[in-house]
Amino acid sequence: MKQIQCRIAGLLMALVAAGMLAACEGQEPEAQKERILPPETGQDEAVKIGFSMDTLKEERWLKDRDLFRQAAEKLGAEVEIAAANGDDALQIAQAEAMIQGGIDVLVIVPHNAEATAAIVHKAHEAGIKVIAYDRLVKNADVDLYVSFDNEQVGELQARAILEAVPKGNYVYIGGAPTDNNVHLIKKGVLNVLQPAIDRGDINIVYDEWTDDWAPENAQHNMAEALRANGNQIDAVIAANDATAGGAIKALAAQGMNGKIPVAGQDAELAAAQRIVAGTQTMTVYKPIQNLTAQVAELAVQLAKGEEIMTSVSVNNGKTEVPSILLAPTAVDAGNLADTVIADGFHSKEEVYQEAKND
Ligand code: GAL
Repeated sequence: MKQIQCRIAGLLMALVAAGMLAACEGQEPEAQKERILPPETGQDEAVKIGFSMDTLKEERWLKDRDLFRQAAEKLGAEVEIAAANGDDALQIAQAEAMIQGGIDVLVIVPHNAEATAAIVHKAHEAGIKVIAYDRLVKNADVDLYVSFDNEQVGELQARAILEAVPKGNYVYIGGAPTDNNVHLIKKGVLNVLQPAIDRGDINIVYDEWTDDWAPENAQHNMAEALRANGNQIDAVIAANDATAGGAIKALAAQGMNGKIPVAGQDAELAAAQRIVAGTQTMTVYKPIQNLTAQVAELAVQLAKGEEIMTSVSVNNGKTEVPSILLAPTAVDAGNLADTVIADGFHSKEEVYQEAKND
């Protein structure tokens, strides 16, 4: 009853009294405004999806946010999006606010695979299903996991670099250890490199995670790897383009950029430009538009109580999570045009524009 009174008050005085509304329901003014709209436009029955994101720091997440909203709204759903900027407590609080705010299904990109298990429990207590988006939530009864095949990402990276450098000293720049993907990517890299390691052809002389996927941390680690090995480095595999960019800066400081093959992931614009400039060898392209379209559809189905069958499952330490793993693509100077440009992920003009920072 109290809630209805608030809504009526809100419609009459929304712009003027947003602060009051929040006080009424103890919610953020912004979230409040969004929920007021549906009754007027008759969207009460619309599925409400909560999209809880770790961060918008890397270029790709901006695409995930915008393309997911588009895909969901195209299906008639309403989307509430929050990004926690790598703050676990904030991500939990934001997800709780969405759950209390009446979402029908929760889609989550966990910052910390373990810490977000608490969110899954809370959602289930409220009868809300949870989809782990791109990154798995560990040790919780996640309803569905949709991502790209991260082990394949690592295999594609290692295959490309092993072809360029069949013998020599390798540096591995891993991602954030709080992110379950980094362990899958690294497993894929070793699936390909192990035989060459066993033969003694290649030697991983430096291997470190990158806290928070921060490029500056990757740059620092790469500088340390160069220093510790007297610059005797022949190849670098970095878990994504942001960390590859950091590593390439450290190589540049030693006049080695463009001389050492470097692998990345995400097909960021800067990485595509580096591939054209020759300072990065390859990246792994993951068509975000495919991921967002699939997850939006599956979220609406779950919200409507439909059962979803998958042919694959991934164990998250608690259960076999029904999963859908999309195929990634290796991209180098030879197929940039047929992949990221052909898909409109980046325009030809942008890609062939001078790389700014290398
Ligand atoms: C991973 C994701 C990558 C990368 C990284 C940094 O989980 O799969 O595409 O961007 O996070 O945010």
